[in-house]
Amino acid sequence: MFPKSVYSDRRKKLRNELSGGLVFFLGNQEVPFNYPANTYSFRQDSNFSYFFGLDHPDLAAIIDLDEGKDYIYGNDVDIEDIIWMGVQPTIKDQAARVGVEHTAPLTGLNEMIKTAREKGRKIHYVPPYRGETIIWLSDLLGIHHLELKANASVPLIKAVIKLRMKKDLIEVAEIEKMVDVAWKMHTTGMKMAKPGVVEREIAGTIEGIALANAGPVSFPVILSINGQTLHNHYHGNTLVEGRMLVIDAGCENDLHYSSDITRTVPVGGKFNARQKGIYEVVLNANLTAAKAVKPGVPFKEIHMLAATEIAKGLTSLGIMKGDPAEAAQKGAHTLFFPHGLGHPLGLDVHDLEGMGENLIGYDEEVQRSKEFGLAFLRFGRKLQEGFVMTIEPGIYFIPELIDIWKAENKLAEYINYDVVETYKDFGGIRIEDDVLVTADGYRVLGKPIPKTVAEIEALMG
Ligand code: GLY
Ligand code: MN
Repeated sequence: MFPKSVYSDRRKKLRNELSGGLVFFLGNQEVPFNYPANTYSFRQDSNFSYFFGLDHPDLAAIIDLDEGKDYIYGNDVDIEDIIWMGVQPTIKDQAARVGVEHTAPLTGLNEMIKTAREKGRKIHYVPPYRGETIIWLSDLLGIHHLELKANASVPLIKAVIKLRMKKDLIEVAEIEKMVDVAWKMHTTGMKMAKPGVVEREIAGTIEGIALANAGPVSFPVILSINGQTLHNHYHGNTLVEGRMLVIDAGCENDLHYSSDITRTVPVGGKFNARQKGIYEVVLNANLTAAKAVKPGVPFKEIHMLAATEIAKGLTSLGIMKGDPAEAAQKGAHTLFFPHGLGHPLGLDVHDLEGMGENLIGYDEEVQRSKEFGLAFLRFGRKLQEGFVMTIEPGIYFIPELIDIWKAENKLAEYINYDVVETYKDFGGIRIEDDVLVTADGYRVLGKPIPKTVAEIEALMG
């Protein structure tokens, strides 16, 4: 946990953003996996962690904006709990560690909310995303579960986004530590990528590295020789020479700061000419996009820069044709790069996603596109110092998508469909780094993970 002043300061800043009423955060609960006593590993809600730091289930918190008081609600353990869980600090002691003086059992929360509702006080809450929280919140507020999101407080959401998006130095340091653990995960995975190895042997090993060095993986490991499926969680294929292995994996620590890194390597460690050709195009897009990162630049522009670089590269390989900038403007590259360039990263891998992507990533100036490909860009607005973003361009040959586009002769003035046909067995390549927006540019976080053809071949050889 950070020192208690960190949490008090964050709550003070939140207070300064809002005018009155109660701000109300529910911590997460235990969630059954396959039977009630067999729960998933406990993961605290990120907003609760950010403002109240405590990492136990069944806690709630209130910031009373009018009285200037903070409260933590939770039940102290009894002897039956102690038999299973060991002795736990009291709620009072836990609250003191994060600078909160007022505590009460959970029944106190019900009373506080009931009184506030009776008095017609404004109750600010953020949109819930877990079933258990939705039920709890719905019961407390008397709002139908389907109406909860629509009634969430937009001023609170905007204030939380404003605070959490800008990472301070202690947060960047935590993220960077997690990128360093990802370095171990990825370099180990690369060395294991030999013909005959089954994907799950690598996936299991790198997940173990996450657990042994930090906390759990920050999202289920994406690892596949079928990297053309963007989020491929099937790990049953045997690696064969000629395929590229996509590994998209990161981890989080006990404070829940995370990393999210992708590397793609040729099975066996040596790129063939076709693999090298496509790889260099993705690498160039990754490096060009990172170099364009600086405060004031709309991320949508950097996405389009990467898209244009991809169109240029694919044109030079004879896969696309015509003017690359025009091709990218028309969306021809989305046959190969159908997703967004990246997303904010922090306490969540898709940081703050639960608050509503359009409120996080877009504003009056930069609106979300409805076009295929660009619509998937999670974040488009201007970057600011302190944002941490992923930069993750990719090129994928998705046979089913190619068939549809080809049948429609879609954007055929920019795509050599005959050449594309010969790449249907290629798979995909994605290269992802975690990048901090600095005062005048960018910094790729963490110990550099092999990325060029030469670095990868040297490591794997
Ligand atoms: N690494 C998973 C994602 O960015 O969606
Ligand atoms: Mn990512």
